[in-house]
Amino acid sequence: MTAAPDRKRAAILISGRGSNMAALIEAAKAPAYPASIALVISNNPEAAGLGHARAEGIPTVALSHKNFPDRESFDRAVHAELEEKAIDLVALAGFMRVLSPWFCRQWEGRLLNIHPSLLPKFKGVDTHRRALEAGEAEHGCTVHVVTPDLDDGPIILQARVPVLPDDTTDSLAARVLAEEHRIYPLALAKAAGG
Ligand code: GAR
Repeated sequence: MTAAPDRKRAAILISGRGSNMAALIEAAKAPAYPASIALVISNNPEAAGLGHARAEGIPTVALSHKNFPDRESFDRAVHAELEEKAIDLVALAGFMRVLSPWFCRQWEGRLLNIHPSLLPKFKGVDTHRRALEAGEAEHGCTVHVVTPDLDDGPIILQARVPVLPDDTTDSLAARVLAEEHRIYPLALAKAAGG
């Protein structure tokens, strides 16, 4: 495989486990993948995903939002880190903070998110429990371009899974997560122009 010319430099923002981040890192190891993972930032210094990124040799930054007086000043610090590393595209992967309109404008069209539901259904948190309680026959995940409205913005890719009669939130979440790991690398590649 020949290396993709002009790979886009992607950053991943996480808050916790980082399994979607790991899927993106894995995909970007392919020489023909149109993006490289150049930075991982977490708002939670304890995020397990930071260790994984470091072990993969990817630069990491931990910036606790608790050290900033308001949302936008935290976002400006994140933005400065992204600029410093000449980042082209940002992928939110389990990043559990709402980004300010200011940040969304800076990264308009270059900021992606993965959400564990078939948007526009079940924006916000607790999506698997809510899908079960609503008696949905199918559930899934969505990668979309981020706009200032929560879990809104143009959809890049979705994947569907059936909801099974004996599903718990955990079993349903696991089935959806496997699809997240499959579609996020495809969606980032699409956004990177591959
Ligand atoms: C994923 O299921 C992701 O879709 C969800 O958090 C989980 C993070 O897991 N994101 C959101 O709910 C954002 N609103 P990960 O850290 O293992 O990727």
